[in-house]
Amino acid sequence: MKILVTGGMGFIGSAVVRLAIRSGHSVVNVDSLTYAACIENVASVAESPNHIFEKADICDGVQMLELLKQHKPDAIMHLAAESHVDRSIDGPGAFVETNIVGTYRLLEAARHWWVSQGRPEGFRFHHISTDEVFGSLGTTGFFVEDSPYQPNSPYSASKAGSDHLVRAWHETYGLPIVMTNCSNNYGPFQFPEKLIPVVILKALAGEAIPIYGKGDNIRDWLHVEDHAEALLLVLEKGELGRSYNIGGENEMTNLELVEKLCGVLDRLRPAAAPYSELITFVKDRPGHDKRYAIDATRISEELSWRPSHTPETGLEQTVQWYLENADWLESLKSRTGVGQRLGSSG
Ligand SMILES: NC(=O)c1ccc[n+]([C@@H]2O[C@H](COP(=O)([O-])OP(=O)(O)OC[C@H]3O[C@@H](n4cnc5c(N)ncnc54)[C@H](O)[C@@H]3O)[C@@H](O)[C@H]2O)c1
Repeated sequence: MKILVTGGMGFIGSAVVRLAIRSGHSVVNVDSLTYAACIENVASVAESPNHIFEKADICDGVQMLELLKQHKPDAIMHLAAESHVDRSIDGPGAFVETNIVGTYRLLEAARHWWVSQGRPEGFRFHHISTDEVFGSLGTTGFFVEDSPYQPNSPYSASKAGSDHLVRAWHETYGLPIVMTNCSNNYGPFQFPEKLIPVVILKALAGEAIPIYGKGDNIRDWLHVEDHAEALLLVLEKGELGRSYNIGGENEMTNLELVEKLCGVLDRLRPAAAPYSELITFVKDRPGHDKRYAIDATRISEELSWRPSHTPETGLEQTVQWYLENADWLESLKSRTGVGQRLGSSG
């Protein structure tokens, strides 16, 4: 299959690109190379004849249509987005622009191209989204595909907006779509503004490891390679017009997660004192959702998907990767916002 992947130089997009190429697909990787992009993320497949990179902005609908005409993909996997909640608090405009307007422009380009090709039944527009669109859970319960949308941050609101557009383009124009909403991802190549790489970066530098509030916010963590496998499965076998929740059955408070990471670092890179002594509680993020947890019954029963990483193996492999790829981490340190507290002003 030829897949046009948007955001393929980012964290999850690059995992999808690497897996798709390893699985025999060809990929047109469309990315505008924002601060969050890193071309080294696809270095392992960059020389493959099955990988083509196109530097382009999804907000440019004319260019998106040109790329579709030029490359004639069988499917689009749409991951390009502004993705950091803290940045969305300081500057929501870019999130509305890329996540809502950009998705609209891409949908329109896809629709015009699909109609011009005679509306092929096998074509797919796969929209990749987040569980954050469902808002916050209390101590019990899980998000299912039909949970009401109740986004609380500019990021999740902009992703919710994009989800609604994709659904509407299916209902109104018949565009063949599938959608997925996934929990928090971790793993190699995650940009060092998100919790896990920040913890590793700070710990290795011997600096305070910041935890928002009391560290009691709960997230359901999924390894990015498990997510990429689920995404390709939904693309190939998911039912038309349907959405699938994807999660790791791996709920942890932020404090538990950070303590686990410190424990792994203590074993793999022992320092004079335990890394957990660096943990520092800082002012909470405004509108910080208390708990996310995914019910992944649909994808597990209908498509037989299960995550293959356990929290223990996944976190250990991730820490090991960051230790072995210190140059990658180092090269991103000078980028805007890395190592700074963002989003506390809301
Ligand atoms: N990271 C998570 O835990 C998580 C969980 C669930 C869903 N998601 C969703 O998965 C997708 C990918 O997330 P990620 O963590 O890999 O994000 P990321 O920030 O690491 O990567 C985003 C990529 O999109 C590109 N991009 C941004 N704006 C663009 C534009 N206007 N045109 C073209 N390219 C553009 C960036 O250059 C970057 O390469 C997002 O849609 C996000 O909402 C992320």
